[in-house]
Amino acid sequence: MSNERIADAPIDSQFLDRWSPRAFDTSFTLTEVGLAPLFEAARWAPSAFNWQPWRFAFALRQEPGWADFVDLLMPFNAMWAKNASALIFVTSETQIKKPMDEELSPSHSHAFDTGAACALLALQARREGLYTHTLNGIHMDRVKTRLGVPATQRVEAAIAVGKLGDRASLPERLQARETPSSRKPVAEFAARARLQD
Ligand SMILES: Cc1cc2nc3c(=O)[nH]c(=O)nc-3n(C[C@H](O)[C@H](O)[C@H](O)COP(=O)(O)O)c2cc1C
Repeated sequence: MSNERIADAPIDSQFLDRWSPRAFDTSFTLTEVGLAPLFEAARWAPSAFNWQPWRFAFALRQEPGWADFVDLLMPFNAMWAKNASALIFVTSETQIKKPMDEELSPSHSHAFDTGAACALLALQARREGLYTHTLNGIHMDRVKTRLGVPATQRVEAAIAVGKLGDRASLPERLQARETPSSRKPVAEFAARARLQD
């Protein structure tokens, strides 16, 4: 384990090992090859009718246009996410074609499915020695237009990816928050199902 988190039941350490830093190492560069295992892990996520509605569009810091991609984030995120090695913009297809149907229809679970894919991506990132930080403090409409997101897709989030950097690189206010957070106890969100009359 690389941090102080403690689980209340025995779980694989990978779940505690994933957390969302803001300090990224600017000396580290990622390539498309380096991102491939993250997308591959996402690929194997479950989804309703195996429709796989997640879509990812990535930008690498060392490539032209980085500042414009960073500009798609709200300033309070852009200020630190600009130091990440990659930004992944996550969208999801809002329409689904079920096996029994001829036509597309609105999907109940496009965001749910896409969240599952992002969780796997984040866990695989840690296996690669990388960290992810998901953001929805982004300019949704600007992402839509600047990335040419089709009308059938919903903009879900962006994910900053990179190696852990020096927390001293952050403004003081954020330095204090640069630590793995805790969680509610399981009893607050899981209970035996009770049927109502
Ligand atoms: C959908 C989503 C949106 C988020 N948006 C932001 C954001 O805009 N800015 C930010 O600093 N963190 C953002 N986060 C990170 C959460 O604050 C973080 O995951 C949560 O506090 C739990 O901490 P951990 O990921 O370090 O375990 C977001 C996370 C998710 C899943």
